Amino acid sequence: MPRFPSGFRWGAATAAFQVEGSTRADGRGDSIWDVFTRTLGLVLDGSNADVAADSYVRWRDDLALLAELGVDDYRFSIAWPRVQPEGAGTAHAAGLDHYARVVDALLEAGIRPLPTLYHWDLPQPLEEAGGWLARDTAARFADYAALVVDGLGDRVGQWITLNEPAMTTLQGYALGTLAPGRTLMMAALPTAHHQLLAHGLATRVIRAAGDAEVGIVNNHTHVVPASDDPADHLAAGAFDAIYNRIFADPVLAGRYPDLSGLGLDRMPGLEDGDLELIAAPIDFYGVNFYNPTRVAAASADSEFAAAGLPFEPVEIEGVPVTGFGWPVVPEALTEVLVSLREEHGDALPPIVITENGASYPDEVVEGDDGGRRVHDPERIAYLDGHIRAVHDAIERGVDVRGYLVWSLIDNFEWADGYTQRFGLVHLDLDTGERTRKDSFDWFRDLIAAQRG
Ligand code: BGC
Repeated sequence: MPRFPSGFRWGAATAAFQVEGSTRADGRGDSIWDVFTRTLGLVLDGSNADVAADSYVRWRDDLALLAELGVDDYRFSIAWPRVQPEGAGTAHAAGLDHYARVVDALLEAGIRPLPTLYHWDLPQPLEEAGGWLARDTAARFADYAALVVDGLGDRVGQWITLNEPAMTTLQGYALGTLAPGRTLMMAALPTAHHQLLAHGLATRVIRAAGDAEVGIVNNHTHVVPASDDPADHLAAGAFDAIYNRIFADPVLAGRYPDLSGLGLDRMPGLEDGDLELIAAPIDFYGVNFYNPTRVAAASADSEFAAAGLPFEPVEIEGVPVTGFGWPVVPEALTEVLVSLREEHGDALPPIVITENGASYPDEVVEGDDGGRRVHDPERIAYLDGHIRAVHDAIERGVDVRGYLVWSLIDNFEWADGYTQRFGLVHLDLDTGERTRKDSFDWFRDLIAAQRG
C-alpha cells in the first residue's frame, strides 16, 4: 500500500438504526424505519432492528474493537427519535445521555467522534405530518440539531448533518424500497430540496453554537454511458443529475443542475434565499462510494419508460460483484473524486470518504488455534483496491483527508435485513457475539503501517 499524507485519518462507520437495537428502550419514539419493518413488512427476510447488533447495550464492546483497530475516527449516528421521541419538543435526557457516554468514552480512548445527525430514522410523527415532503420538516431538523449540539457540542468538534439524502428521495419517497416506502416517482423531488434546506438550517445552528466543523455526506456513483449512442449519453446525464448532482451542486456550487433531461425546468420546492443557505461553506464534504453505474436510454417497454424516466441502469459486465451483486470497480472512485475536483476547483472543501465497503456472505469457521475465524479475502481485495483508488485521487490533486470503512460490524442492512454483511467484525445474529474477520486484522495492520 502506498503511503498516505501524514495526518490522513482512518476510521469506521455505523448508523444508529442499523446497530443499536433497543428500539423501545429509555423512551425512544418510533421512526419511519420501525414502521417500515414492523407494520409495512417490507424487509426481505422479514426481520426488524429491535436487536440488530445490540450496540445500544454493547457499545463498550464496539469501542474496544475500534480501539484495537487503532482508528482515528468513529462515525456513528444519533437517533432523532431518542432525542425527540415525538419529533418535537425539549430534549429527552435519557436519549442524549446515551450519546454523551459514548462520546466521552471515545474521547477517552483517543478516538474522534464523528456523529451524523440524520441517518434515515425520521420520527414517525413527522412522517405523519408530511415527512420530507413538508418544508417544515427542515425547520424541525434544525430544532433537533440545536438540542444535540447544545448537549454534546462541548465535546464534539465535527458534525455531519445528513447521510445520503439521495437515497431518502430516490428509494424512500420515489421507489418505496426504503422507508417511508412511498412510491411517488418524480413527485418525490421536493424531499430532495427540503433535506438540503435542513442541512443548510442545521449548518447555521452549528455555526452559531461554536467553532465545530460541519459537513454533509452524499452517496456518489460514477455514471458511465452504456455506449457512444447520443441517447445513452443523454440518459447518463439525466441519471447523473438525479443521483449525484441534485444533492451535490446546491451544496458545493449554490445551484441546481440542469433538470431538463428529467422534464423539469426548475427544482420543485425551491424558494428565494434557499440556495444561499444550502451553499453556506462547509468544512468537509463526505463521499460515500460503493460502485459505478452504467446507464442506457430507457427501452420503450421498460418500467423506467413507463414511469416517465429517460434512463435505465444496465449491467456492467466482466467485473467481480459483491454479495449484493454490486460491480467492483475501484477506479470509479478515483473518477468520482477527480471529477469533483475538476468541476469545483478550490471551492471544493476537503473530502472525507465517509463510507466504503462491501457485503459478502461471510461464514464463521474454526481457525487453526481452535478459535472462531472469518476468512473474507474478497472484502480485503475490495478495500485494498478502493483505498489505492483514493491514493490515486490524492496524487491527481484531490484533497482527501480520511477514509472510513462501512462498516465496523455486520448490521441491519435496511430493506435487505440481515442478508448482507458489511462488517469488519462478524455478528452472530442469535447471540450477538462479535468475531473479527480477516479484514479486521488487515485494516488494523494497514493503519499501523501507515502510522509507522
Ligand atoms: C448507507 C448505509 C448502508 C450502506 C450499504 C449506504 O447507502 O449509508 O446505511 O448500510 O450504504 O448499503
